[in-house]
Amino acid sequence: MKNGLAVTIENVHKRFGAVHALNGIDFTIQQGEFFGLLGPNGAGKSTLINALAGLVVTDSGHLSVMGFDVRTQYRDARSRLGVVPQELVYDPFFEVRETLRFQAGYFGLGREVEPWIEELLDELDLADKAETNMRSLSGGMKRRVLIGQALVHKPPVVVLDEPTAGVDVELRRQLWSLIKRLHSDGHTIVLTTHYLEEAEELCDRIAILNRGELVALDTKEDLLARGISRTLHIHTREPARTLPPSLADKVKCITDDYIELTFNLGREESSVMQVLDTIRDAGVNVIDIRVEEDDLEDVFVQLTREAD
Ligand SMILES: Nc1ncnc2c1ncn2[C@@H]1O[C@H](COP(=O)(O)OP(=O)(O)OP(=O)(O)O)[C@@H](O)[C@H]1O
Ligand SMILES: [Mg+2]
Repeated sequence: MKNGLAVTIENVHKRFGAVHALNGIDFTIQQGEFFGLLGPNGAGKSTLINALAGLVVTDSGHLSVMGFDVRTQYRDARSRLGVVPQELVYDPFFEVRETLRFQAGYFGLGREVEPWIEELLDELDLADKAETNMRSLSGGMKRRVLIGQALVHKPPVVVLDEPTAGVDVELRRQLWSLIKRLHSDGHTIVLTTHYLEEAEELCDRIAILNRGELVALDTKEDLLARGISRTLHIHTREPARTLPPSLADKVKCITDDYIELTFNLGREESSVMQVLDTIRDAGVNVIDIRVEEDDLEDVFVQLTREAD
């Protein structure tokens, strides 16, 4: 069933005491999508992922993976899902290869999975650590093992809960290329991250959670198009005191005679020209102009800003 649904989430609620961690979450993810799940700390992202993996029991609603209900068809649903958890959880007494074998055993896999385990060890640059105890690995290496564990049963849906948190630039790039490869091999990818440039680079569709609610769900392009403003920065060598009062609130003095004027613009092209006309009428000598488009981070901040 090509282009069927990889994940369905139907009106899911979960409370932890007074905290409504998931407040009626409702959306679907298509097979083959690269899907971003974003939101500030405490938004409910991990709770939702853990509910999909059957680790959190929801209060109401339905969840399914590749058409299998997480509650009533747990083993079928779970075996189609690979989860890289946010927390570094591991057994310190296991070696790396043993950790992967143990995870395979959990899914009822035996010797037939050995070649795949060796491939994973290579892929994750862990081959020379295969006999090392988990407790002696660095944080980044432990994270690679967690990724291996998530992939050991070749699940069609892979959910990564902040896989690049606290990892160095080199490993982050490696993880990006591994995740991209998994996606082009046909896996559905769900990625949670606080690095918005990472979501902007990788994801096709993005959901934004805030305080247990879905506040946006759109393609990256459409989310970016919501960015309501651009910012125009103009640099000039006029002394601030010679500028007209109408520009006073736009001025940032960089040095005594080097000034940046900042204007928030709408989307219309003409607004740049209007500002330039104002500047010229004021007799200001412009030496540099820069226009800044809103990026995903600006849109994210607008959508998740706390209600005052
Ligand atoms: N086991 C639990 N017991 C009590 N409260 C919990 C539990 N798990 C999560 N919560 C609460 O539910 C809310 C959502 O937490 P969750 O971990 O899902 O957020 P998150 O979006 O993953 O945040 P982060 O970006 O910090 O990982 C938070 O208020 C959190 O304190
Ligand atoms: Mg989390």
